[in-house]
Order: sequence, then C-alpha cells, then structure tokens
Amino acid sequence: MFAEIIGWGKCAPPAILTNSDLATFMDTSDDWIFSRTGIRQRHISHVPGSEMARVASERAIACADIDPTEIDLVIYGSNSPDEMIPNSASIIVNAVGAVNATGFDLNSACTSFVYALNVATDMIKAGSIKTALVIGVEKTSTIMDWGRRDASVLFGDGGGAVVIKATEEALGLIDAKLSTVPNTRDMIQMPRMGFDMSHAEMNSYYYSMNFKGQDIFKNAVKGMNEACDAVLKKTGIKKSEIDFFVPHQANVRIIQTLAKRMDFDIDNVMVCVDRYGNTSAATIPLALCDALEEGRIKPGMTLLTATFGAGLTCGAGIIKWGSRTTPLRESDAELPPCDKTALEIIGPSIKAAEERYADENSGGASS
Ligand code: UT7
Repeated sequence: MFAEIIGWGKCAPPAILTNSDLATFMDTSDDWIFSRTGIRQRHISHVPGSEMARVASERAIACADIDPTEIDLVIYGSNSPDEMIPNSASIIVNAVGAVNATGFDLNSACTSFVYALNVATDMIKAGSIKTALVIGVEKTSTIMDWGRRDASVLFGDGGGAVVIKATEEALGLIDAKLSTVPNTRDMIQMPRMGFDMSHAEMNSYYYSMNFKGQDIFKNAVKGMNEACDAVLKKTGIKKSEIDFFVPHQANVRIIQTLAKRMDFDIDNVMVCVDRYGNTSAATIPLALCDALEEGRIKPGMTLLTATFGAGLTCGAGIIKWGSRTTPLRESDAELPPCDKTALEIIGPSIKAAEERYADENSGGASS
C-alpha cells in the first residue's frame, strides 16, 4: 500500500515585509539580507496560524475533489500552534468539516511537515487509515524578538497542506529517513517557551531565541546531505534518477551548498526563500505548491525532499508524483481582508523590543 498526494493548497497572508521595511527599525540592509540569505521579503499574518491552515486545507481538499468526511486524520505540523490545549488539529477538523477524522499536532520545528507526511503515509501503508490531511503552517512573527537582527530577518509566516490517499500504485512518499543531530538543542531554542517556568516568572518572562547561525548552517548542510544519501541508499534510487529537488527553504546559500554536494543541477532545485523567507514547517508545502503552479513538477517525476530544523532534526524523503499536476476543483477559501501593512501588524512587538533593549542597555531589569 502507498499514499498518493492527490491534493495540495497553500496560504500566504497578504501583508509583505520587505528587507527595506526591516531597515527602517533595525541596523540592517536589503543588501546584507539578500547577499547572506537570498531573502527579499516575507509575509506577515494578520490572522492566527490556524486560519492560514484552514485556507490551505480547503484549497487542498478542493484540489483533490474529495468530501471532507472522507478524511480519517488531520496532522497539524507546526511549532507555533494557536494554543497548546487543546491541539490545533482539532480547529481544522471542525473548520473543514472533517467530521470522521481525528487529529493531532506534530512539532519537530521546521521539519514538522515532512515528519507529519511520513507519519500519515506510514499509517496509510499500515492500513489503519485511508485518507489524511497533512498541514505545515507557521506564525512565528508574533514570537520573534524584533530587536535582534540575526534571527528575526530570516523568518516569515505561511502555510500549506496536502491530501494523501491510499493507493496500490507506488506513488507519494515512497520512503523517508528522519534523524536528530545529537547535542545541538541549544542552536535554535526558545528557552522555557512551555510549561517549564516557575510561578515567579510567569508574568515577566519574554521569549528570545537562542540562535547560533553558523553552527546551524554547517549542521543543516551535513544533516540534510546524510539524510538524502540514506534515503537514496534505502530505496536503491540513484541521484541521477531524481528529477527535482525540494529542500527546506532557510537560506539560499544552504540550498546551493547542499545541491553542489549532491551533484544536482541548480536548475532542478526549488528555490522560493526569496519570496517567503524561512516559513519553518510551511517551507516544503509552499515550495511544492509553487513548483506545481510554475509547471516545474511534471507527471511521473521522482522528487527528493530534504528538511532540517530546531532539535536539530533532519530528514529526507523520496516522493513519486502521480499523473495529475493541476487541481480537480478550485476553492473559494480566502483569508479575511487585511487593512494593515506588515510594519503596522508587528508594530507593537517592535515597540516592546525597543523598550526592552533600552531598559537593558541602561542597566534596568528585564526578563
Ligand atoms: O530553519 C533553521 C533556521 N536557521 C537557519 O537557517 C540559520 C542558518 N544560518 C544562516 O543562515 C547564516 O548563518 C546567517 C544568515 C544567520 C548569518 O550569516 P553569516 O554569513 O553566518 O553571518 P555572521 O553570523 O557571520 O555575521 C556576519 C556579520 C556580523 O557582524 P560582525 O561581527 O562581522 O561585525 C553580524 O553581527 O553580520 C552581522 N549581522 C547582520 N548585519 C546586518 C548579523 N545579522 C545581520 C543583519 N543585518 N540582519
């Protein structure tokens, strides 16, 4: 048994934050950001992450032309759920009318979508379910420390979803290799962003990311390279048989270094980090949707995907595409209108960061 990808949908919120916008309130420039990362802009959401997930899911369901009652399982891949209890998958179960589905959230950071696709595919292969909705969505703009230029310029909001369905044909995620790099938890970390907080801290704590850019860079290239080699070896598929490569979109230099190591022609590699920034769990479904819209994924292609994120978690998967690369039906799902610019949306967070750093620099107590 296999699990073909029969529907796909994305949601990029309308407000766009350019590199020049960032330079209006922090010491950075379009030139620095673009030359170091390949990023030109990122989207900032005016709605909760689950709203982006709902729109992407409704589009994926229409694309597959299935009735939502056919869905057995919803996995909400994200490290920025709307709330911890209850899970955010249950929001989508209700919102799309998947009345026969159960759902759970999966958080392995940026790798959450590929991990979720692997879990759902394996459940279909095992025969316990037939149809699943797999989501990768992120609204990290609300938890960004907009006073820190090293990390905040990299990330953006967005979401994507796929519908996968049982088939006897060898289609969908054929196999995957998931791994964790030992002793790297502190390279990207939101310390104590959870329940491990004392009662005294509860009302005064703010989140600031531990972020070791160069260490992440090196481990990302190595981890994804090893995962790709492992899944190719596992499946007996040769590098030369890969038609199109869809890597995690964090930094174009990471993508270029990885492609070079893998001997892939960059023309056969998906790059969309320029338009979205790093949308964490949403990068792969957004990249898949854009590649389909641009006609870069063709019927019967063999795809390789690679992913990495906080943990550090890594992974790679071989996806065999089916005969259809266009939606069966268009969806009319839309986000509610947005009447603010991206700078206006994140304005309160910028102000809070300015006050916090002014306080810290003057020796005052904070955090
Ligand atoms: O999904 C996982 C998410 N994480 C990642 O993908 C991160 C992977 N790492 C990277 O993408 C890169 O390491 C970065 C883009 C984060 C940084 O690029 P880099 O070439 O490694 O730069 P660097 O950290 O060595 O910094 C070079 C300089 C420093 O100044 P000095 O010490 O040379 O004076 C930084 O302070 O650039 C400075 N800098 C900036 N300048 C302007 C750091 N951030 C900025 C900025 N604008 N936004």
